[in-house]
Amino acid sequence: MRHAPELDQATLAALIALVRKHTGIDMGERKRNLLERRLRPRMDALALPGFRDYLDRVEQDRDEVPHFIDLVTTNDTLFFRTPQVWAYLEQEFLPSWWTGHQGKRLEIWSAAAASGEELYSMAMLCEEFLAAHPGFRYRIVGTDISRQMLELARKGCYAGRSIERLRETHPARLANYFRPSPHGCVQVSDALRRNVELRSHNLLHVLRPAQQFDLILLRNVLIYFDLAHQHTVLEQVRHSMASHSVMIIGESESISRLDTAYALHRPMIYHVKASSPCTP
Ligand SMILES: C[S@@+](CC[C@H](N)C(=O)[O-])C[C@H]1O[C@@H](n2cnc3c(N)ncnc32)[C@H](O)[C@@H]1O
Repeated sequence: MRHAPELDQATLAALIALVRKHTGIDMGERKRNLLERRLRPRMDALALPGFRDYLDRVEQDRDEVPHFIDLVTTNDTLFFRTPQVWAYLEQEFLPSWWTGHQGKRLEIWSAAAASGEELYSMAMLCEEFLAAHPGFRYRIVGTDISRQMLELARKGCYAGRSIERLRETHPARLANYFRPSPHGCVQVSDALRRNVELRSHNLLHVLRPAQQFDLILLRNVLIYFDLAHQHTVLEQVRHSMASHSVMIIGESESISRLDTAYALHRPMIYHVKASSPCTP
């Protein structure tokens, strides 16, 4: 006898719509297996027999929404992911910002921070810049929609692929900024954590309190949205940019098909167009 499909078409469509409503992520029906795989353990934990029951739970119980978001987001990240971006930040962005803004504090936003590797990579560059430029000050705001990811970023204790890659590519930085932890991971140093602030934020909305950042890392998140939602995110992020600010996207992302306020400076790196004033 054939078993009835576990995730029927109508429930799949409703789940996809719910993912889009809460996160903007465009899942599409091709993500059926991924959704099934990710949701099933949660359904088991809640003793819910079917996907329709889980859908009802998310719709009726606000406390379930953060768990749902944790399950449907994809959070892959690495320290110093896309090396050419980090070479630009270290060799061009930081020296140039310092020349034009001495006495100010460098404000950085890691806008889809996931488990924090990106923002701690930036903190390492800033600490090294500080050692060579006394008086340099910086702050990094890390945000993500996933509560679970923010918790990992707050802990700053890394193991597995993240650390293996860092050991291969940046052994001196691993030695300088991390220490072994009794929990079987390596812990980022207090020096890296001291200028970092982590907050929950949905990129479909404008970041509050209103603030303009010198550098926004919006990397490897637009790829999950359809064009309309990419446009919304870019419009919201623009409110956090000043005329001199730099925004960086991921290497497999492109915003060239969208009519936006951003001008390409070089691959992945954008400024706001001079003709695009912004009123938060
Ligand atoms: C692949 S990770 C990118 C991590 C890092 N920026 C990098 O490039 O390595 C994508 C992150 O975007 C987050 N995300 C997805 N939708 C979001 C939304 N609407 N608002 C804020 N963050 C979102 C996910 O939770 C996930 O942690």
